[in-house]
Amino acid sequence: MTAKYEVHGSVAVITLDNPPINGLGYATRVGITDSLQKANADAAVKSIVLTGAGKAFSGGADIKEFGTPKALAEPNLLSVILAVENSSKPVVAAVHSVCMGGGLELALGCHYRIAAPGCNVALPEVKLGLIPGAGGTQRLPRALGVEPALNMIVSGEPVKSELLAQIPGQKLFDKMAASAESLAQEALAFAQAVSDTRPLPLVRNLPCKHPGGDAYFQFARNMVKGMAKNFPAPVKCVDAVEAATKKKFDEGMLFEREIFINLMWTPESKALRHIFAAERAASKIPDVLEDTPKREIKAIAVIGAGTMGGGIAMNFLNAGIPVKMLEMKQEALDKGLATIRKNYEAQVKKGKLKQDKYEQRMSLLSTTLSYDELKDADMVIEAVFEELGVKEKVFKELDRVMKPGAILASNTSTLDVNKIAAFTKRPQDVVGMHFFSPANVMKLLEVIRGEKTAKDVLATVMAISKKIRKTAVVSGVCDGFIGNRMIEQYGRQGGFLLDEGCTPAQVDKAMEKFGMAMGPFRMGDLAGNDIGWAIRKRRYQEKPDMKYSKTADLLCEKGRFGQKTGAGWYDYVPGKRDAIPNAEVVKMIEDHRASLGITPRKISDEEIVQRLVYALVNEAAHILEEGIASKASDIDMVYLMGYGFPIYRGGPMNYADQVGLFNVVQSMKRFAQNPLDDAKFWQPAPLLARLAAEGKTFN
Ligand code: NAI
Repeated sequence: MTAKYEVHGSVAVITLDNPPINGLGYATRVGITDSLQKANADAAVKSIVLTGAGKAFSGGADIKEFGTPKALAEPNLLSVILAVENSSKPVVAAVHSVCMGGGLELALGCHYRIAAPGCNVALPEVKLGLIPGAGGTQRLPRALGVEPALNMIVSGEPVKSELLAQIPGQKLFDKMAASAESLAQEALAFAQAVSDTRPLPLVRNLPCKHPGGDAYFQFARNMVKGMAKNFPAPVKCVDAVEAATKKKFDEGMLFEREIFINLMWTPESKALRHIFAAERAASKIPDVLEDTPKREIKAIAVIGAGTMGGGIAMNFLNAGIPVKMLEMKQEALDKGLATIRKNYEAQVKKGKLKQDKYEQRMSLLSTTLSYDELKDADMVIEAVFEELGVKEKVFKELDRVMKPGAILASNTSTLDVNKIAAFTKRPQDVVGMHFFSPANVMKLLEVIRGEKTAKDVLATVMAISKKIRKTAVVSGVCDGFIGNRMIEQYGRQGGFLLDEGCTPAQVDKAMEKFGMAMGPFRMGDLAGNDIGWAIRKRRYQEKPDMKYSKTADLLCEKGRFGQKTGAGWYDYVPGKRDAIPNAEVVKMIEDHRASLGITPRKISDEEIVQRLVYALVNEAAHILEEGIASKASDIDMVYLMGYGFPIYRGGPMNYADQVGLFNVVQSMKRFAQNPLDDAKFWQPAPLLARLAAEGKTFN
């Protein structure tokens, strides 16, 4: 049963009971309408309380039903709300903890509302690229006032019930309960007190006006447009709320419905809903059951206090987990410690971190030069130089000193985690944790599953990544894992485009217009062009027939490694990140082009975007087929969280799905005809070819 029905004296109590947040799934909706009927048919019942069991009144739609026919099956939420409004006996919503989305819309349909303090109230639909679709945009402005309602609807952010109750003239809450504990009793008393009141008050009958009228809405629209650039939903929120002030209630409802349905079909909303599901799916590993027991992680050790080690340590300190950092020399420890301090102090200065919190975090950090002092750590993360020999020494030491059952993780970005595991006598405890730089900022964490990594180690690492607020995605072992393996093909296309006629700025601009946080050349300058150079040198040995543009090598030969050397594809002024095009670099590209006998051609932005994005997609299809990634949505999460792929496009795989895989393959066939490109690479990966032929999608 997902809705309980009880009668207390003359009051019927309907309690939503669909954990974890009393989602308004089909069974719950039926439960509500059945209970209402029962209450209305029972002469002993004079009034009704509607509330939620456990940790919520209701969080809204049931995400388990998303995209299934059940989500829309009758009674849908609109019908349920209508049934509540039409109840001949007063219905009192008793809200607490969480009252969001459809949950709030349901409460707004009730005749009265009593709230516990501390309840998070929100209409978060905008975060999925939608507007509320069950009357939220028409009833909330009537109940709360136009301006606060619009703020809530456009931001999607929760506001505490006690704050809302203080808004002058608000009719959202008829009463605030003294506490969450007393809510049930107070709701019963309230329901008894109003049992004979007629006519029953309805939010739909309240007046709705803004004194600023048209000017206010124009102003709101301009503000929202500026902030919500690539997303259509926020401006539509303004339209819908404006309709509440101008149209009759039922017309406003139809207007809301029409906007809602149109938004459902936009690529932006599809992308946001895809990400919502992808984020939840990422933590699920097909062969690791959710109830897999997890190891207890109370203390962390970090080996290496360099760029990555320091950032990694900060993640755990921020989560209140003690960290011990080990280095070879005291100076290195001092330097690492100073960097961590500097980072925190900058946050304090900006007002993002309180002084006492800063001190509390630093007090959780200790340092050592001796491996023997690591024996109490439950998990160690290695972030030393990227050389297998160095990793071997470190992991042999760790194997010697770490307690049995401790998790041994490596932050390696290119080395074989299976080889690293084999340096120990406990390969089942070894796993890769590939953080991205800056490790205390970037959301993405690739969790590298070795051949022998134990399931409970994986489950533990996924759980701890949630604690340190990372989006963790599992990758199998391969060169570059998911993200960097794909970016290599993207970068290679960037090189070909320069050879064929583009400038770095043209390519970057096209990609930034597409929505990437940064084009490939600015990204190279940020990450350091020497990193790609080192990888290419290795590739020239391993894969002599692989085709590369030589421009990036020429750039590196000039020592132009990027921001860190003040010069890369662009010039940089110290202390600033602006990329300033450099005429010499452009000349270098032109000279190289001429030396190859290539006549430059004008290349469209469309071709630039397609070649770079489809290069990601084709490599990703290989990655999926090889089982390196277990689902396409994981690949999307890697690119959204770690590589600045535009949120409103939902990741490369979602984007390709929306373009249509058949069209993607057709473009690849065209690129393969270009003699200056790599025809072999553009053979569609077998999985991609198959899906395209069958008219299917990745996701
Ligand atoms: P880094 O050079 O800034 O720091 C490495 C630190 O390790 C140095 O402080 C060094 O003194 C210390 N170290 C070296 N050998 C040691 C040993 N035997 N015992 C204890 N400490 C030792 O290097 P970075 O950039 O922090 O990279 C570390 C690891 O993280 C590498 O495996 C790298 O591939 C990986 N990584 C780096 C990323 C980056 O953007 N820099 C991104 C993701 C992973």
